[in-house]
Amino acid sequence: MIEFDYNAKGFVNENDLNDEIELARSFVQRAQEDEFGGWVDLPINYNKEEFTRIKTAAERINLNSEYLVCIGIGGSYLGHRAVISALGNNSRTKVIYAGNSLSPYEIEKVLEEIGDSNFSINVISKSGTTTEPAVAFRIFKERLIEKYGEAEAACRIYATTDAKKGALHDEAVEKGYESFVVPDNIGGRYSVLSAVGLLPILVAGVDIDKLMDGAEEERAALISDGGAAAEYAGLRNALLKKGFDIEVLANFEPSFMYFNEWWKQLFGESEGKEQKGIFPASVIYTTDLHSMGQYMQEGRRNLFETFVKIKQAHKGVKVPKFGEDLDGLAYLEGKELSYISKKANEATEKAHFAGGVPTISLTMPELDERSLGALIYFFEMSCALSGFCLGVNPFNQPGVEAYKTKMFELLGKPGYDK
Ligand code: PA5
Repeated sequence: MIEFDYNAKGFVNENDLNDEIELARSFVQRAQEDEFGGWVDLPINYNKEEFTRIKTAAERINLNSEYLVCIGIGGSYLGHRAVISALGNNSRTKVIYAGNSLSPYEIEKVLEEIGDSNFSINVISKSGTTTEPAVAFRIFKERLIEKYGEAEAACRIYATTDAKKGALHDEAVEKGYESFVVPDNIGGRYSVLSAVGLLPILVAGVDIDKLMDGAEEERAALISDGGAAAEYAGLRNALLKKGFDIEVLANFEPSFMYFNEWWKQLFGESEGKEQKGIFPASVIYTTDLHSMGQYMQEGRRNLFETFVKIKQAHKGVKVPKFGEDLDGLAYLEGKELSYISKKANEATEKAHFAGGVPTISLTMPELDERSLGALIYFFEMSCALSGFCLGVNPFNQPGVEAYKTKMFELLGKPGYDK
């Protein structure tokens, strides 16, 4: 279970905070009943037949491929990359990514890395029409067909998309690709625990049963009244009303870089609309204490900081003992690195709070599948409740279309004349 704690003394009034938390609690049922609330019960109500097929497909990919090229963007990409980066790619198949930008350099790098190795493709797009993944899919499909011929290439393509419609769905049906479904009632950024995330995560050797168990446990803790997720959501909105309109997600594990990216999309796309929202930013400490630390300590005082912590310390890396003390580190000899990191975290929190930054702590039990499943679910629930408190629809993203329309006009896409 995710533990919530905070220090906002002097920044928010206790009664205001309680009102916001009560408001957040009142939205749990609304999230569950929303037409895009399918993620709420997903940990207990997922397609078991598809889950089994995901396992079979992952086994096949692990047997016949050194690489799985995962093609997708936004909610069809960040969640699984977050989990695989945090827990490591522990299988013989390396999951690599394409279609999350329009950079030719990036595509060339991936093509070069694959070289002559055996590979498969998991193309992921709910709409089945997003330009970035569609372009990348063409490029990797061409390479696949050159290498294996049409028939075997089709057996190495896995399409995760809408159950009934879209260009990718239609192509998958026509060519006979194995397909998995992005459920209608789950938006991209809430979809990591569906086939969108589960196939690549399993191919990377991460235990998806444990990931789902963690999410299920967290759901049980939150489903009646929002639990700690409602407290976090309420506090965010109470702080926003006091002018704290930037939230910085901070953690001390570099492997969480993509988790931060997933979190930024979740909150940014869910709340940033109708000229409202808390701007989500992120840092990885202690690295960023040497770049962003100055701003956090003394910059504009409109931000609050949310620390993601891991309770169970990773043991085994210690500061070695030396007969001499030329570097002045004798006082740390024999100490675990995780102990030093924990003290750095405590010090950072205290210093930033003293510098005028309200701080929040979210603690996961361990760095493992179960805890990560819990953390994902915790943030999804918090984000939905927080968005409703803010008075926006946390499940749509009307603003994402604006650049697409302009780009299609400029590229001359049929139907998009100026
Ligand atoms: O969260 C979302 O809905 C978006 O970020 C989408 O996931 C992203 O735009 C990609 O869309 P699609 O999966 O349709 O290719």
